[in-house]
Amino acid sequence: SDQSAFETDVWTLTRFVIETGRQAKGATGELTQLINAMLTAIKAISSAVRKAGLAHLQGLAGAVNVTGDDVKKLDVLSNDLVINMLQASYSTCCMVSEENKELIITPKEKRGKYVVCFDPLDGSSNIDCLASIGTIFAIYKRVSLKGEPTEKDALQQGNNIVCAGYALYGSATLVALSTGAGLNFFTLDPPIGEFILTERNVKIKPKGKIYSLNEGYAKYFHPSINEYLKHKKYPEDGSSPYGARYVGSMVSDIHRTIAYGGIFMYPANEKSPKGKLRLLYECNPIAFIIEQAGGLATTGTQRILDVQPESLHQRVPFVVGSPDDINEYLSFVKKFS
Ligand code: AHM
Ligand code: MG
Repeated sequence: SDQSAFETDVWTLTRFVIETGRQAKGATGELTQLINAMLTAIKAISSAVRKAGLAHLQGLAGAVNVTGDDVKKLDVLSNDLVINMLQASYSTCCMVSEENKELIITPKEKRGKYVVCFDPLDGSSNIDCLASIGTIFAIYKRVSLKGEPTEKDALQQGNNIVCAGYALYGSATLVALSTGAGLNFFTLDPPIGEFILTERNVKIKPKGKIYSLNEGYAKYFHPSINEYLKHKKYPEDGSSPYGARYVGSMVSDIHRTIAYGGIFMYPANEKSPKGKLRLLYECNPIAFIIEQAGGLATTGTQRILDVQPESLHQRVPFVVGSPDDINEYLSFVKKFS
């Protein structure tokens, strides 16, 4: 019958996280609790992004939205969800969110040993046109041993990341997660509300056929970038030009880069001398994930994970993707230095 095709021993993300936790020496289960809380927030954000419960808020077509301004904007709602879920997991001492200027300190009675840096809903310019958006996070161990948590706990090099992930609210909801032993993809199965392991030990292609950046800013780019782009469009060696793709939602552009190969960049330009993307909760988690998949992530002069952060919301130029593509880009940087 139909039922015979029903899988009864599925690898869900919850199971995967529990299992990984069991194998870690001296593990207390605190990281497992933290990751599970993050996944709950992600499921709730996914549901909100997909407008579940819209009828309840909006009423029948044409009716006025009775709640009006009471409806929280999606990015604010997402931020509240992540903060509340994480604090309730008793596993964090402080957090950094794109939405909060200051360090978020966990109430004393709910503290644990981890620090989380996150962007609750990245790709804000894509929210209103219903294009893909995402959530990004990185988890660190607290460095100060006692007293109140401070910014120092959050200003750690990406090298110290214990676990990083992103959620992509695309044509399906997907979570990419790594605890430092490779990268795995999990796809949300809405009827059971669980993420199912759909790709194990993901590796990026050594070289792709796609370049991805906001080329509209070419006027303000450093000549090395424009030379590199020219080489992608008019290759002198008889090879085919690269295709161009740019969603403008980093998680989307990164997920495609991991899935198909190629290069994604948000370089510095005259108007934004450090680029746009934020080191703590955008670049570091993605750099960790890309490296786990065999790719590279650089500022153009330094490996992203080696950058010593100086402030919570600092920006860095960001170039990531297939190793051969990144090395080719770096050869253009060299030529112009
Ligand atoms: P946001 O955090 O305000 O959403 O900005 C980050 C986003 C990234 O997802 C994306 O890579 C970039 O901004 C696009 O910027 P631009 O519109 O300048 O190309
Ligand atoms: Mg962002």
